[in-house]
Amino acid sequence: MIVANIADHREAARRRLPPFLFEYIDGGSYAETTLRRNVADLEAIALKQRVMRDVSAIDTSTIWFGMKQALPVALGPVGLAGMYARRGEIQAARAAAAAGVPFCLSTLSICALPEVAAAAPPPWFQLYMMKDRGFMRDLMACARDAGCPALVFTVDLPVAGARYRDRRSGLAGAPGLGGQLRRLGQALRHPGWALDVGLQGRPHHLGNVAALLGRQSGLEDFFAWIAGNMDASVTWRDLETVRAAWDGPLILKGVLDADDARAALAAGADGLVVSNHGGRQLDGVLSAARALPAIADAVGGRLTLFADGGVRSGLDVARLLALGADGVWLGRAWAWALGGGGQAGVSHMLGIIAAELRVAMALTGVTSVAAIDADALVAN
Ligand SMILES: Cc1cc2nc3c(=O)[nH]c(=O)nc-3n(C[C@H](O)[C@H](O)[C@H](O)COP(=O)(O)O)c2cc1C
Repeated sequence: MIVANIADHREAARRRLPPFLFEYIDGGSYAETTLRRNVADLEAIALKQRVMRDVSAIDTSTIWFGMKQALPVALGPVGLAGMYARRGEIQAARAAAAAGVPFCLSTLSICALPEVAAAAPPPWFQLYMMKDRGFMRDLMACARDAGCPALVFTVDLPVAGARYRDRRSGLAGAPGLGGQLRRLGQALRHPGWALDVGLQGRPHHLGNVAALLGRQSGLEDFFAWIAGNMDASVTWRDLETVRAAWDGPLILKGVLDADDARAALAAGADGLVVSNHGGRQLDGVLSAARALPAIADAVGGRLTLFADGGVRSGLDVARLLALGADGVWLGRAWAWALGGGGQAGVSHMLGIIAAELRVAMALTGVTSVAAIDADALVAN
């Protein structure tokens, strides 16, 4: 098939991946209202066309935490990416490095952090607050030793939202031999994936938490581990502990409320990601696009403000920047591209985002990322 845009990357992933993986990437929680809102609210934002402004030299680069980025875009943390392509986190990290953007490794990756850092530039590292604080400290030390430039602390998963597609597909709630056979049946109907990832992409355990889980670190243990190990008692005081243990840039991911954003600033965060976890946690909450302006008003300029959720084009990147973000993170866009086309797919997807962003900048009449502001939007 011809892959021209992000929707095509999604379709390529749907064809290549067994349903239990495609649905895991594609789905949201409960009725998926917030998942749809993320996309629809961005689409509804009208860009303002401006003309005759000399847009012959467009610069899409920007600087975060003193580090130059070729695009105002990062590959955000996505769990299980090593199941979408063979050692998928490494492939995605290499594509990100080639495009000059950061790759953030999820705690719940297949490849462990040292494996990724040995094969690509050190990734940003995403951490969940786990009950075993000693193990968390070990992971932070591992991130420091690996030279990770930033730590991302995800705060919107003290408990996991229910994702019913995962039940129907057999990823969740299908333990033991029955579940394994169900997933095997799906894999056999997708032989390209089965050969490349199913057979040659092993081991399939959760690399970063394998030491905690021991032999129980396979796919079937994934949801049990989340349910058993996320710490629902976490408060701002715990962030102080993380802050004290990490002296590089610390980014809080999963904030939707201006008061929480102010609290994050007070607790010493250097960055925030306005995010509803891609509509995978509390269904019914605001889209990132609608939550962002109030947060930008509350804390903008005092920390580096990122946003994610529903970004399906470079035009969407421009929209979130115009609403006050300093940078935009991609989730499904890169997971689909990886699943459909591996490293080349992610590189291609980032090329699309860059090209679309350039056009959005040219036709809203700006030549630098810093110049993208509310003037790029039609006031509603
Ligand atoms: C398959 C999948 C796995 C994810 N895993 C994680 C994760 O391990 N940690 C995390 O902080 N966010 C995770 N997220 C959320 C993303 O980082 C991001 O917030 C979200 O995907 C953005 O929405 P979008 O996919 O519509 O762009 C995941 C999202 C998806 C789609």
